[in-house]
Amino acid sequence: MAYPRIASFKTHDQFKSRLAELELDLPSDEAVEQGAQSPLAQPIQRDQGVIGNRFCILPMEGWDGTADGKPTQLTRRRWKNFGISGAKLIWGGEAVAVRHDGRANPNQLVMTDKNQSSIESLRHELVDAHEERFGRSDDLLVGLQLTHSGRFARPNDKSRAEPLIAQRNPALDPRFAITDDSKLLSDDDLKKLIDDFIAAAVRAQQSGYHFVDVKHCHGYLGHELLGGHDRVGEFGGSFENRTRFLREIVAGIRSEAPQLEIGVRVSIFDFVPYKPGDDRVGVPEPNADPRLMFGGDGSGGGIDLSDPSRLMSLFESLGIELVCSTAGSPYYNPHIQRPAYFPPSDGYQPPEDPLVGVVRQIQATAEIKRMHPNLTIVGSGYSYLQDWLPNVAQAVVRTGMADSIGLGRMVLSYPDLPADVIDGKAMTRKKICRTFSDCTTAPRNGIVSGCYPLDPFYKAMPERKQLADLKSSS
Ligand SMILES: Cc1cc2nc3c(=O)[nH]c(=O)nc-3n(C[C@H](O)[C@H](O)[C@H](O)COP(=O)(O)O)c2cc1C
Ligand code: SF4
Repeated sequence: MAYPRIASFKTHDQFKSRLAELELDLPSDEAVEQGAQSPLAQPIQRDQGVIGNRFCILPMEGWDGTADGKPTQLTRRRWKNFGISGAKLIWGGEAVAVRHDGRANPNQLVMTDKNQSSIESLRHELVDAHEERFGRSDDLLVGLQLTHSGRFARPNDKSRAEPLIAQRNPALDPRFAITDDSKLLSDDDLKKLIDDFIAAAVRAQQSGYHFVDVKHCHGYLGHELLGGHDRVGEFGGSFENRTRFLREIVAGIRSEAPQLEIGVRVSIFDFVPYKPGDDRVGVPEPNADPRLMFGGDGSGGGIDLSDPSRLMSLFESLGIELVCSTAGSPYYNPHIQRPAYFPPSDGYQPPEDPLVGVVRQIQATAEIKRMHPNLTIVGSGYSYLQDWLPNVAQAVVRTGMADSIGLGRMVLSYPDLPADVIDGKAMTRKKICRTFSDCTTAPRNGIVSGCYPLDPFYKAMPERKQLADLKSSS
């Protein structure tokens, strides 16, 4: 693979030249401003309350909860790191299942009655850490991401998929040995699940979370329903039916927890599933059905934002103002979801310069923001920008292409990057995420997630050697 590494661009001009070479349209400011007047330090003023600056921590789970879905010390450490990051928007912390069969792994948190107080304490610890470092938290907005993993559920055993699907999918079904309709959730099943989402949201409100994210991204159940063109019944086919699950959850939360704000994280476009080709470079699955990809243009590898834009209009009509945009799925097309130089062990070599994937997400998000200026839009997929992340982030916010810059992997390796940028400190190079993908490879192999290459805490864990052995044998 011949893509130049970001670390090899020693000057902003070299970075810009590479963008030009790739014919990518991405704004990037030569100088990053510091202090209270800088673009990234500007608060977001909203009727529902202020968000203190333009950095957001994206949800990231660590596969490290207890068997019954409570946080462990590892979970608490990660949330405290989110608190000290300096970001003023915490988008959901991590995916929390609304019930056991919706867990993506047997260590995912679950928002049950029994677990409520420990999930509440996570929020307290995050806020306390934030207050201790920054002296205030009245401008900090903390949400909880609620999920059902649907097709990607593995609630009981890390190595056993127990999919529950919205519709059949010719490219994905074989990956789960699905050969008939027995894994399809019925309309009655979905109605029960709607009640579980509402109950979990009520618990989140009682636990002091400002908002819940009704997750609709990354191939999980909510997202699969959005693309459910082949599903029959009340929850499939027409746009109205494909959004019924979301609308009914929102209606239930409005009635049971009227003060709770609702946000949605959406994959605003999707490509068909990819697989490793002969040379391990990703290629589209030949038998995929591009019609099923929400926000796809029907080719399998292009974007049509008309359906996602309609979804945004629906959000506006439902009084949903917080939107976090993402793309695709980390399982079946990670190069569009979390562009990386080094793929996870179960992935494929990037079929394009990862910068292309970064710009694709940023530009699609900007298009949504242009069409729906009243929504507060958080963007994702910035970590691959590495040394130039602050320059692009500032330009994106300054030009109104997004309201807030979401940070995923970068905060695992460099927890207080937002604080450093706003304080005008030079970035600490040894903390910059180089997209080694160990934080994805580890959990795919049953090991807790974390930044093993760069975070001294994970570097010292015995799992690091286990991961290294695993990588060298694959
Ligand atoms: C270890 C890990 C765990 C993640 N867990 C979640 C999650 O629980 N919920 C979610 O919506 N996205 C999750 N993501 C996706 C990130 O939120 C984000 O979209 C992605 O990493 C791209 O942003 P980045 O380039 O800043 O890393 C996870 C990503 C990683 C690397
Ligand atoms: S393991 Fe660390 S360096 Fe690698 S992608 Fe994850 S956060 Fe980045």
